[in-house]
Amino acid sequence: MTTDEKLGQLVQAAGGRSKNLNSRLTPEELDRVRRGAVGSYLHVAGAEPLAALQEVAVNEGPHGIPLLFAMDVVHGYRTIFPVPIAMASTWDPDDWQRAAAISADEATSAGLHWTFAPMVDIARDGRWGRVVEGAGSDPYLGSLMASAQVRGFQGEDLASNKTMLAATKHFGAYGAATGGRDYGAADISDRTLNEVYLPPFYAAAEAGSGSFMTAFNDVAGAPTTGNEALVDGVLRDRWGFDGMIVSDWNAIAELMNHGVAATRAEAGALALKAGIDMDMTSGIFGAELADAIAADPSLMADLDNAVGRILTTKERLGLFDDALAYNDASREAETLMSPEFRQASRDIAARTVVLLKNENAVLPLPVDGEQNIAVIGALADDQLTQLGSWRAQGHADDVVSILDGIYDAAPEGATVSYEPGADTKTANAEDIAAAADLAAASDIVLLVIGEDFDLSGEARSRSDISLPASQKQLADAVFAAGKPVIVLLVTGRPLAIPEIDEQAEAVLNTWMLGVEAGPAVADIVFGQKSPAGRLPIDFPRATGQSPITYSELPSGRPADADLSKDSNRYIDRPITPLYPFGHGLSYASFDYGTPTVSAANVAPDEAFTISVPVTNTSDRDAEEVVQLYMRDPVASVSRPKLELRGFERVFIPAGATSTVSFTLTPAQAAIYAGDGDWQIEPGDLIFSIGASSADLKGSVSVNVTGSASTRIPAAAIPTKVQVQ
Ligand code: BGC
Repeated sequence: MTTDEKLGQLVQAAGGRSKNLNSRLTPEELDRVRRGAVGSYLHVAGAEPLAALQEVAVNEGPHGIPLLFAMDVVHGYRTIFPVPIAMASTWDPDDWQRAAAISADEATSAGLHWTFAPMVDIARDGRWGRVVEGAGSDPYLGSLMASAQVRGFQGEDLASNKTMLAATKHFGAYGAATGGRDYGAADISDRTLNEVYLPPFYAAAEAGSGSFMTAFNDVAGAPTTGNEALVDGVLRDRWGFDGMIVSDWNAIAELMNHGVAATRAEAGALALKAGIDMDMTSGIFGAELADAIAADPSLMADLDNAVGRILTTKERLGLFDDALAYNDASREAETLMSPEFRQASRDIAARTVVLLKNENAVLPLPVDGEQNIAVIGALADDQLTQLGSWRAQGHADDVVSILDGIYDAAPEGATVSYEPGADTKTANAEDIAAAADLAAASDIVLLVIGEDFDLSGEARSRSDISLPASQKQLADAVFAAGKPVIVLLVTGRPLAIPEIDEQAEAVLNTWMLGVEAGPAVADIVFGQKSPAGRLPIDFPRATGQSPITYSELPSGRPADADLSKDSNRYIDRPITPLYPFGHGLSYASFDYGTPTVSAANVAPDEAFTISVPVTNTSDRDAEEVVQLYMRDPVASVSRPKLELRGFERVFIPAGATSTVSFTLTPAQAAIYAGDGDWQIEPGDLIFSIGASSADLKGSVSVNVTGSASTRIPAAAIPTKVQVQ
């Protein structure tokens, strides 16, 4: 290959815009393909149009090298699933794996090879709009959700035309943006980077993620797109990742804005040296990098490595055997939105719903007797919002709204009436008054409030994560009507809603649930299913509590409810979150027995098992999420108050008892010691089991009898779970 041909492989061009796919595939663009000036396209789709494009590359381009077609297939392609923060609320990685596999089946039928997912950024700051795209605040939960998605997208065989290449993003600390402002600096310690932000990336690499995408932002002043120590150093050298790395959109050019490169050529050289193989849309690798290589011939070796990794990736996808394997239009027509996929979306959506409050067991609503149900809030009828911020080829018309779900499922004898009241942007007095009148005339109100799809997502950070003003106004008027109100929260982020919690009888967090939002919500509201979703992130009481995590360090003066003590707290709020990490109620009730441990003393390499019996003490079959937290009370450095180290969503029939056993090793408590080393320290570890991070039922302690070192991020090591 000539240098220009090699450089062409590194170029990823936009074949369209995310909401106007294929729109840039002009005759001039096809000439670029003929010249071999492009290696990959994003924002393209369709078995037929992509076959036509691929034919140009393989029949007319130099060496017949196939193109790689990519899209953000994040939580569905045509059959849209719940947004990722909701998917994490299932606390069941198998749900994610199944949704990702279905998404891959659909997307590959439409000619795509590569998705920009999973997004595994840890987020502890609800102000950050992209909190909607990840698995929340916890590195252990995040690691399990990351590897499940990789397995789902890539399947057993990447060369199959039903599986697609994953791009785990945005490596390494995009979620730590200062103040929750998107693209902002991550000013974090090496310990926090390694213990909190990197483990899900490690887990994805272990699961075989074929590619990674680097983050826009910097870590401690080093923009990741040009950070050789992080990209080549950690991902490739330390972890042994041998796949392809793509920059984020225009991020190579943005190295100049960061102030680490003066020219486009310098920016290109920095990124190539750091280990970036493919340039998403900045055009620098295709244009100015040639000059940089001429000026510094040592870059040729980096270029060869990058081309090698890109061609190997195309080979892994099977494209050199059959470049058109993903382009069967009849398969596309049969696959998209099949009834089976819709059903899967509905089942999974119901599994994501989190019951935050349920006073006097007002939910589920009775299925007999006469009742006037008011559905209030424009979000109830907003189909587009249910698709979330990455909707791929999702159609708003495919969505069954919450309102239609309630209409369809309402039991005989019930009357359902609807008033929009207010949308998320505007409230007018007349509409709000109509909503309040309807509330007053009803027996029970389902108040659907929160954020629309456009209030979270990329570049959608908010300085105030309470309800939008119009939603507050609507809620005030409805509460004033004096009827029991059940709030159905629609949101892509944790919201600070203490006034809602105080006034509502029940609060059901429904996130944004995809095409089957309405039926899924109705299944829970009318009790066809018992809710068992759990929060993957704390909900603060006020924006000012952000960032917030149950897993913070204790401080020398731990937060104390007693205000007369000087402690690690705000004086104007309780010390607790509004809804803690792991929280979620059920229609059933569960009793936790005393946990036991298989050994009181263990060597650093010895496994031990912690077991707990859990009894469903209600008369309804239901699922419970049994959670295991760890604390290292005395170590060489201060350790988090609690760290999640195991969980299982278990189905327990009414009156039955299940015993859940977690098998761990001391490596799961190892402490980051720098340069990729993890130290297992001797001493006690306390393990607590409970129904949330703030509802621990019992503890056991295990003494680690010696020290040892490992190389594996502790939070990325999965605990083995058995249920009997
Ligand atoms: C986002 C990425 C996304 C890319 C391509 C960027 O703006 O940060 O997450 O994959 O666009 O759409």
